[in-house]
Amino acid sequence: MYTQLEQRGMSEPPINVATLRNMKEEGVAIACLTAYDASFAQLVDLAGVDLVLVGDSLGMVIQGHDTTVPVTVDDVIYHTRSVARGLRHAFLVSDMPFMSYTDPSQALDNAVRLMQEGGAMMIKLEGGADQVEIVKYLARHDIPVCAHLGLKPQSVHKIGGFKVQGRDPKHAARMIEAAKQLQDVGADIVLLECVPNELGEAVTKALAVPVIGIGAGPAVDGQILVLYDILGITLGRTPRFVRNFMTGHDAPLDAVREYVKAVRDRQYPAPEHCFS
Ligand code: KIV
Repeated sequence: MYTQLEQRGMSEPPINVATLRNMKEEGVAIACLTAYDASFAQLVDLAGVDLVLVGDSLGMVIQGHDTTVPVTVDDVIYHTRSVARGLRHAFLVSDMPFMSYTDPSQALDNAVRLMQEGGAMMIKLEGGADQVEIVKYLARHDIPVCAHLGLKPQSVHKIGGFKVQGRDPKHAARMIEAAKQLQDVGADIVLLECVPNELGEAVTKALAVPVIGIGAGPAVDGQILVLYDILGITLGRTPRFVRNFMTGHDAPLDAVREYVKAVRDRQYPAPEHCFS
């Protein structure tokens, strides 16, 4: 048993949910990135990234759409399969696309597809208190879940743009409550996007599970960014929380290594990447 780890020539076991939880307990910042293909997956894995997300951001950075809304389950499975082949150490999470989790049974069917056909180790879905029943159902079937709160890009047409969330104290309090409820019904990770530092810190303190932030300030348990943003590939205006790590480097591997170090040392995010 477990010989597969030796066959993969690994000096240490791959990251899993328990590793991530220990990192939170020990105060070791978790470095996460998106990836969509095997070559970049291999590169970010080698650079020491702990968690790789096949995000539905692939709809924007790979497929050229303006939003993540057109991405399908088949698209995510295709990219997850490719990424899974490139990883040896990092934990692999895949996004449940828009409208792929409208009820518990549909959510379970699609989560199982992402895991069995794609090779995902955890699925991520967007939503707050309204997703409690779905997360509970998935957790009851032992599907590892990451709950994405704050700015929910799949709701961009409803929100009216990519905007900072939770500035209003009532909205912030609701988000903290939703995060606790999602943890209590079985979410293993919470991802917080585009919220003020203070709210990032409050959610992190309120939860035992790791909180990964993107534009959620320095107090969260880990950081995630879109790979193409940190490599300076994304043209035009990028969000405030993005830092181009290619600056001063010739090779993407060195840039990703610097990203991992900056997250671990809590040098990223700096005040200019944060919201108040
Ligand atoms: O789809 C994605 O890449 C994401 C990250 C931005 C967190 O959800």
